Amino acid sequence: MAIAARPDLRPVNPNFSSGPCAKRPGWSLDALAGALLGRSHRAAAPKARLLEVITRSRAILGMPADWRLGIVPASDTGAMEMALWSLLGARGVDVAVFESFGAGWATDIVKQLKLPDVRVFEAPYGRLGDPDAVDFNRDVVFTWNGTTSGVRVPNADGIPADRAGLVICDATSAAFAMDLAWQKLDVVTWSWQKALGGEAAHGMLALSPRAVARLESFVPPWPLPKIFRLTSKGKLNEGIFKGETINTPSMLCVEDALDSLRWAESVGGLRGLIARSEANLATIAAWVEGRDWIDFLAEQPDTRSCTSVCLKLTAPWVTALPPDAQWAVARRIAALLDVEGVAYDIAAHRDSPPGLRIWTGATIETSNVVALLPWLDWAYATAAAERTPARAAE
Ligand SMILES: Cc1ncc(COP(=O)(O)O)c(C=O)c1O
Repeated sequence: MAIAARPDLRPVNPNFSSGPCAKRPGWSLDALAGALLGRSHRAAAPKARLLEVITRSRAILGMPADWRLGIVPASDTGAMEMALWSLLGARGVDVAVFESFGAGWATDIVKQLKLPDVRVFEAPYGRLGDPDAVDFNRDVVFTWNGTTSGVRVPNADGIPADRAGLVICDATSAAFAMDLAWQKLDVVTWSWQKALGGEAAHGMLALSPRAVARLESFVPPWPLPKIFRLTSKGKLNEGIFKGETINTPSMLCVEDALDSLRWAESVGGLRGLIARSEANLATIAAWVEGRDWIDFLAEQPDTRSCTSVCLKLTAPWVTALPPDAQWAVARRIAALLDVEGVAYDIAAHRDSPPGLRIWTGATIETSNVVALLPWLDWAYATAAAERTPARAAE
């Protein structure tokens, strides 16, 4: 195969990492100039900024008025761990696993919490699994968008409104990019650095009234570290949901989160964010359609993520290779683009099958995706040509 010519156009922003994700278009450090640094986060003005993150997030996401939303430590992991350790144990648990992060929650529930009645439904990478297998009279834990497989839940139609269990949803790469069916969920978590490209720091924990009722009626038998404690003397710690964080937050990250939320409002709120992300997915889908060497890892088109697009290499010369050698091809493509300054961090997640992963959330301009695609063709052709002498010698 002849070496392909380098494309002329380069993405203006080569940041296609799936977390931390690209900053919003036009972002610079100036966006943080007004940060209330060196102040107590419990003083009136800083606390008002923390509350503003909560109120703007609620409004953009269309969160029901009777839900609570709080800023918690340790990003999405912190928010999910708080939920799992505070809420589970009252009834049996079903965990739907279809990629690495869901698998991590299952491990915590089975091996750390050691709950006696847990069913784990695991689907291979690329598939969602059978939603009918899950029993919503038990507590259910799932990830809305599998960042490491590029598979998302297309809707929440299968979740009954009158369920007896709680539905705990890790929505960290779905929030601000997909419609979350609040009425079908009880706990929703996300982080700041994903769809809005904020600084990684704190997690967001959203609780339905039913989740709050569980917190106030069920005391887990295990000890809870201070950092996980959502109740005091059997009552919800309401302060957490008004900006009174459990421990000290970064006011620099708070300022950045506010900047990202204001930008989200400026592009049309949730509808605008979803449209931007879906346009990026559609751009890649049209390109994949015309290629015989690459395809979506997600098998069903309606489960393709619009934020973490995971692609597998399907050329027969690649699929005939052992997994390590397939990884080498995928990493070579990613490395070529990295060296060219065209795309950073687009090799698939280490837990996934070999391939590429391109973040296409709302902060990614479609023009940059358009500019990236010819470079993918170029990098693949280059990797394939490098392989040719080895193949000839086989
Ligand atoms: C689906 C999902 N859950 C959890 C996490 C962990 O998030 P964090 O590192 O922000 O805690 C990630 C990060 O990529 C994720 O994609």
